Amino acid sequence: MTVTTPKPSRAARAADWWKGQRRRALWWVAVSLVLLVVVVLVARWLRTLPAVELFLDAYPGILPPPEGTPVGIPAWLGWQHFLNSFFLLLIVRTGFQLRSKQRPPGFWTRDNTRWPRTKRNPRRMGIFLWFHLWLDAFWVLNGVVYVVLLFATGQWLRIVPTDWAVVPNALSAALQYASLDWPTEDSWVVYNSLQQLAYFVIVFVASPIAILTGLRLSSAWPLEGPLVRAFPEKLAKSLHYPTMLFFLAFVFVHVVLVLTTGALVKLNQMYAARDTDDWVGFTVFAASVALMVVAWVLAKPPLLKRIAAGSGRVQG
Ligand code: HEM
Ligand code: HEM
Repeated sequence: MTVTTPKPSRAARAADWWKGQRRRALWWVAVSLVLLVVVVLVARWLRTLPAVELFLDAYPGILPPPEGTPVGIPAWLGWQHFLNSFFLLLIVRTGFQLRSKQRPPGFWTRDNTRWPRTKRNPRRMGIFLWFHLWLDAFWVLNGVVYVVLLFATGQWLRIVPTDWAVVPNALSAALQYASLDWPTEDSWVVYNSLQQLAYFVIVFVASPIAILTGLRLSSAWPLEGPLVRAFPEKLAKSLHYPTMLFFLAFVFVHVVLVLTTGALVKLNQMYAARDTDDWVGFTVFAASVALMVVAWVLAKPPLLKRIAAGSGRVQG
């Protein structure tokens, strides 16, 4: 007699997935902590070498801002920075929901009798993907406004490197961070080279990759023609998720550094457009976090399905 084990339900498989994900996260935290200690020890040892000290003297980790660089962080930049965090939070949540492959608690099919009408019949999609795509649209719109304003105001000079010396200087700054003897920077006037490179990469490299790979995976991409072979779907699939991991790693380091290098001044700079050390910026930041918590709690399937029903058929 053969014994057949019952197939695990979808819910059980999703729970298993989350369990595996948590175990993997814990493992990563442990490995990262050990690595961190090793990196600090190596960096401290490197700094005892005369040649390395000479290198640090030659490349202090920061470059003077090019002539004409505006001073300060304007209020519009603070707004864009906040909206970026706000949308990304929910994009990452929906990203994890999509990745978990759990059965969405609802499906949406676009009503194709109304604008925008397409020749191709709309495909039914899960409510998580529907929300992911709306958030992406707002996030991209916010990003486009940010980049246009960066270039319209000269503010781009603060985050786009204009001198190859940024490379050795970023290396120098990295070594200084790693040895726990942190490099100087005055974010109001100029970012250090490592900050500048990191900001440049997240805005002008990682974000375009997220957008391009996301579009490739979406039904906006043509089903036939040269674009299909030029950019294989498999490639997009294998890049989209690691890109999110890169975002998460960036944000983690970014926020830890902001909170450990004069948090009150920095929060004033980014959240209140001023360069002082009172509690105003912190208060605005706290309010912005509260708003993100509210959005997190509200953006659950019941409300999402009600909104989605306004533009199509919702089932499930
Ligand atoms: C909610 C937590 C966050 C806090 C508290 C925070 C704080 C700050 C602060 C104080 C600055 C000013 C520069 C500095 O001192 O280094 C800054 C700049 C920046 N942040 Fe964040 N940040 C957060 C989330 C994010 C996220 C999620 C991203 C993108 C993935 C991001 C991307 C950037 C970029 C690109 C800049 C440079 C902007 C420019 O000068 O044009 N930040 N952030
Ligand atoms: C314009 C921007 C974006 C578009 C058009 C887009 C589109 C999509 C689509 C269509 C899927 C479903 C893929 C599938 O059917 O397998 C997806 C999944 C996903 N998205 Fe995005 N996305 C965008 C931006 C982002 C960003 C910025 C992040 C995170 C920072 C992100 C994280 C994810 C993750 C983690 C998944 C699940 C991937 C997997 O199962 O391996 N997406 N996205």
